[in-house]
Amino acid sequence: MDREQRYTRPWQVKEVEQIKNWEVRDSDIFGVTYPKSGTIWLQQILILIEAKGDLTATKDENNVTRVPWIEVIGGEKKFLLEPSPRLRMTHLPYSLLPAGLKQKKGKVIYVARNPKDVLVSFYHFHDYGVFLETPKDFNDFYEKFMDGQVFGSSWFEHIKAYHTHRDEMNFLYITYEEMIQDLRSVVKRICAFLEKDLTDLEIDNVVEHSRFDSMRHNNKANYRTVSDQILNHKKGTFLRKGSVGDWKNHFTVAQSEHFDKVFKEEMKDIPLFFSWDI
Ligand code: A3P
Repeated sequence: MDREQRYTRPWQVKEVEQIKNWEVRDSDIFGVTYPKSGTIWLQQILILIEAKGDLTATKDENNVTRVPWIEVIGGEKKFLLEPSPRLRMTHLPYSLLPAGLKQKKGKVIYVARNPKDVLVSFYHFHDYGVFLETPKDFNDFYEKFMDGQVFGSSWFEHIKAYHTHRDEMNFLYITYEEMIQDLRSVVKRICAFLEKDLTDLEIDNVVEHSRFDSMRHNNKANYRTVSDQILNHKKGTFLRKGSVGDWKNHFTVAQSEHFDKVFKEEMKDIPLFFSWDI
């Protein structure tokens, strides 16, 4: 897989080119994640905040339509003309973002997750996502991930670039583990960042409808309606386990030690801390 393909699937190269010069509005809200870090969760939260916690006001649209991937919609007029606030999502690396975002237009919310759990979630996702090659075994995937030879490229490169350039954007950084531990506080931080004034009851509703079990049973929120040609629903589900520390059920001691060594070296200049277990 060459570098470009690791960020984009072949049919997305044109779209990525189109979005570079997108006219970003100040009201635009971009969720950014490395794959398997809680993207679908952030989509649901953003929709619910806009709807002030009212599930029925989220209309009949699936999350993937309401908060589309910029690398998928590219320059599609329908989306460009959408009234504000436009909610958008991306896995793209910092270097491929629309230029306007790097000039403090719009708002960026970055969700990070401890990379050992990302790796495990991603491993299982390769069985579920039809467009991804099934790894031979866990060790095979471990090596590819550590080498950045996976869709989304290197976890380390992704987070380091966003962290380094965070002051160039209107930027909010949150972690998956914080969301697991205290979702309400995170929702409130997002509301403050977006300057959304929700009542306590509205916040309660946002939290309730974005809990793991609520989303698991809400087909508009859990990607169940995505075509079988993209996701093999017989083999898996987007909301798989939703926990912190599942890596312990997959990593060998040797893999974990190797991972810690690489992490220490790669992240030595990046003061970000992760919960590996809760
Ligand atoms: P697991 O595979 O570890 O269960 P993404 O949307 O970026 O692909 O991330 C998917 C991961 O986020 C999956 O992790 C999924 O279960 C988890 N997730 C999604 N919604 C969640 C929620 N409401 N609560 C907890 N975890 C959630």
